[in-house]
Amino acid sequence: MFNLNGKTALVTGASRGIGRSVAVSLAKAGANVALLGRDQAALQETLAAIKEIDGNAIPITADVTRPESVEAAVEATVKQYGKLDALVCNAGAQKLKPFLEMTPEDYRLLISTNLEGAIVTIQAAGRRFVAQKSGVVINMASIYSFVGAPWNSIYCMTKGGLLQLTKALAVEWARYNVRVNCICPGWIETDLTKPYMQDQKTIDSALKLIPLRRFGQPDDIGPLAVYLASDEASFVTGQSFVIDGGQIAH
Ligand SMILES: NC(=O)c1ccc[n+]([C@@H]2O[C@H](COP(=O)([O-])OP(=O)(O)OC[C@H]3O[C@@H](n4cnc5c(N)ncnc54)[C@H](OP(=O)(O)O)[C@@H]3O)[C@@H](O)[C@H]2O)c1
Repeated sequence: MFNLNGKTALVTGASRGIGRSVAVSLAKAGANVALLGRDQAALQETLAAIKEIDGNAIPITADVTRPESVEAAVEATVKQYGKLDALVCNAGAQKLKPFLEMTPEDYRLLISTNLEGAIVTIQAAGRRFVAQKSGVVINMASIYSFVGAPWNSIYCMTKGGLLQLTKALAVEWARYNVRVNCICPGWIETDLTKPYMQDQKTIDSALKLIPLRRFGQPDDIGPLAVYLASDEASFVTGQSFVIDGGQIAH
């Protein structure tokens, strides 16, 4: 229904999981998609999935914890497609540990990827959006932007921060016609959640928390990203959209 023909989107963390699925959905809707990630081989797999549906994409190896590589990725996207219309700020990391056991290495990984990575990526794309007076930012936050969970304190902190960054930037950039929203997934089956799904007891107790009694799949997220990137969402900014099977509705 929503058409992204002629638009260019950059998706961070497009090599796997939610980011890959979002990238494929955007390409299916007609967008040219720049695929950003560190793992070149995995990016090639996303590219192959997009080529299979006759979509357009370029893989760009970059690390969101290195601002210069993010800037270069945005430049490469604009060089390839002539412009940038949408950014999906999706790259993220998680580490489950009791708060008192989080080492500086642990919490710096989460902060540098989930928060600083988002800041530098949104700055790099946002400079262009503000100058051209149009653009869309879609941040991949989480249900943990709203609720807490044991062993997840620093991750919750970063995702809460990303939600607030979304709202503050939506207000700051509305005058430039730049919209900023976030998607807040619940439990989606990806490499990120795989380590917590090893035994049936954990799986059963996690499913009890989800009224729809299933885990989400990466493909549950893409359609909303397509809508938010489209012109049909031109009056939508500063919002968070939860996709969690009802988990935080009770
Ligand atoms: N799965 C869930 O249940 C869930 C729920 C709520 C929110 N989220 C959020 O959704 C986003 C995607 O999660 P996922 O479940 O799809 O995780 P995933 O399968 O582990 O994928 C993470 C992605 O982020 C990229 N990435 C990580 N660090 C990076 C870095 N320094 N530079 C560039 N790319 C980097 C990875 O690419 P490379 O390894 O190639 O660099 C990969 O493509 C994350 O922000 C996560 O917090 C996930």
